[in-house]
Amino acid sequence: MTGATTTAPYASEIEDLLGRMTAEEKLGQLQQLSWTGDTGPGEGQTHEVETAARLGLLGSVLNVAGPRHTNYLQRIAVEESRLGIPLLFGLDIIHGYWTTFPIPLAQAASFDPGVSARDAEVSAREARSNGLHWTFAPMMDVTHEPRWGRIAESGGEDPYLNAVFAAAKVRAYQGDDLAAPDRLAACAKHFAAYGGAEGGRDYNTVDVSEARLRNLYLPPFKAAVDAGVATVMAAFNTISGVPAHANPHTLTDILKEEWGFDGFVVSDWTGVHELIAHGFAADGADAGRLSLNAGVDMEMVSTHLADHGPRLLTEGRISEKRLDDAVARILLLKFRLGLFDRPYVDEGAAVTGPTGEARAAARETAARCMVLLKNDGGVLPLDPATGSLAVVGPFADSTDLLGTWIAPGAAGFPAVTVLDAVREAAPTARVTHARGVAAEGHDTGGIPEAVALARDADLTVVVVGEPAAITGEAATRADLALPGAQRDLVAAVAATGRPFVVVLVNGRPLTTDEWLDSAPAVLEAWHPGIEAGHAIADVLFGAVNPGGKLPVTFPRTAGQIPVYYNHENTGRPYRPEHPDEKYVSRYLDLDEGPRFVFGHGLSYTTFDVGAPSLSTDRIEAGALRAGATVEAAVTVHNTGDRTGDEVVQLYVHDVVASQVQPVRRLRGFRRVTLAPGESTTVRFPLGAEDLGFWEGTGEPRFTVEPGDFHIYAGNSALAEEKRTLTVT
Ligand code: GLC
Repeated sequence: MTGATTTAPYASEIEDLLGRMTAEEKLGQLQQLSWTGDTGPGEGQTHEVETAARLGLLGSVLNVAGPRHTNYLQRIAVEESRLGIPLLFGLDIIHGYWTTFPIPLAQAASFDPGVSARDAEVSAREARSNGLHWTFAPMMDVTHEPRWGRIAESGGEDPYLNAVFAAAKVRAYQGDDLAAPDRLAACAKHFAAYGGAEGGRDYNTVDVSEARLRNLYLPPFKAAVDAGVATVMAAFNTISGVPAHANPHTLTDILKEEWGFDGFVVSDWTGVHELIAHGFAADGADAGRLSLNAGVDMEMVSTHLADHGPRLLTEGRISEKRLDDAVARILLLKFRLGLFDRPYVDEGAAVTGPTGEARAAARETAARCMVLLKNDGGVLPLDPATGSLAVVGPFADSTDLLGTWIAPGAAGFPAVTVLDAVREAAPTARVTHARGVAAEGHDTGGIPEAVALARDADLTVVVVGEPAAITGEAATRADLALPGAQRDLVAAVAATGRPFVVVLVNGRPLTTDEWLDSAPAVLEAWHPGIEAGHAIADVLFGAVNPGGKLPVTFPRTAGQIPVYYNHENTGRPYRPEHPDEKYVSRYLDLDEGPRFVFGHGLSYTTFDVGAPSLSTDRIEAGALRAGATVEAAVTVHNTGDRTGDEVVQLYVHDVVASQVQPVRRLRGFRRVTLAPGESTTVRFPLGAEDLGFWEGTGEPRFTVEPGDFHIYAGNSALAEEKRTLTVT
């Protein structure tokens, strides 16, 4: 058919609206305000949000939830403003709305993207029915910094793992039709390289090469864009001297032009205004101009575009073309969400709390996220018929297990405690409890009571970790040890000589060296969410055989940071066969290597992961660039006496390249369940994307270079079984 032109969806509707909007109304669409009232909309004093909505000078609202509240504001915008353009309601629904799932770092530890998909589907159903359209998730900031509190929200240190989880969560939030009553628009955040903050200190400087930006930090965002993510949120940090909120290279050149992103970019909180503090903008007008021209489309909370936009337009410092582009991107999402047809939500259909099915999903996924770090002598799983159990520690009878970034309503649905769940799981046991110490502070006065219970019990479960308040945003820790006097509690229980196990509930890697050797078993449970206690008990008593793996390296000490698996070899690597060699890259006062490596995790059974077999050991670079792949097949065998999960991991190392490559890069993983004696073969396609890298010099270019590649298979980053693939 000649002459016909395919028009983008809603192009004519958007063009019609743009043609009828004043400059002020266009600038108003770029404005997102937070609800700050101490009552919900329509329940008390009027608010600037209502005024702006009534004047048609507001595009979106965050931090309003509940159908009565959102409908109240929506009616003002739709029925009282001149053009009746509906509002977009957004909220941080990071790992649950009513039903709190494990924190995202825990979800990554499952090495099962289906875990994040379950979270997203339940969250979307609960939140959309309560008037929300848009979640500021998934966060996908790769980081090598366990001191950084927001590692709790991330998928850890690997770009491939983050990318797989990001794409899965975007697809699950958004589904195939954003107008559906159980879907949400997603938001890939924080663009970009936020996890590279120097010292792990939140909001701090990020100075990164183009190569590291593209090879380490950007892959999850590219995966999210390829999955159709509706929005992207800018990051607070600078990227090599240019703030991410005013960085045309990342926001426009890469995101919108190179990747073809057709959604919109929202600023993070007052990120536009913060351009002044960065020393990048002279004043509010400058900040508005710099951010819009760089590629920010919607301004959250600060109002510089709304305030100064008209003058910036008349002075030609922002263009009508850029303004219309930003407005069109925002209107497109409102059309895709169906808001022009159905702006209101049915108050009678709102999900009002966790359903049994949602709780079951939360419980099952939380157990899948847990990582068995140590289990000397098979002290785990526990026998439910045990005569007496002591459950001690500040988190033994605590509901502070939901983690950071819980949705407003989730607080009304607290976590199941470990103590309650242990009593349910071992109904005939005499179960005693003592807190011993608080989560923070140095009062050890309660330890003798806990020690007495430990002496008197067949086994003690010590539940220690981090309160949610010291994880997440603006929660950087310089010391990664168990806070307060918790280490003293573990030491005192160990000193009794009685059997005990440690359960960690935390939002980041912790340093454990002070007590690890004394603990026969350690279960990393993270902050597991609403079904925390049940999931921990399911694993402790063997109803679930743990199969999670670490998505992030656990250092020996904070002084060892940064320590991560996907590192360069350096010209003087430490050589274990020459432990006394002096002039090598190491610490004089620390054993070599981290405490626990990326990908580590034990099971109640044992597995054998064989060497990879390759469909060919030679392939031309040109064939790879044309889309050819090499298949790596790996056989895994359950060599133990209990059904369990293993995560087969495939790592690649480009041995010689024009740009030094990491000693290992994860390029495939599969979690499999095997009965005792059972084997299966997992097959991984290896293509250009897996073997190549972005060059950082000159015009950025993705390249696959000829040479040898070591292909490793195993069940952690220490995988030794390898084959060599030669690219010609
Ligand atoms: C916060 C966070 C961001 C969040 C936003 C809205 O400062 O950086 O992740 O989505 O503000 O709450």
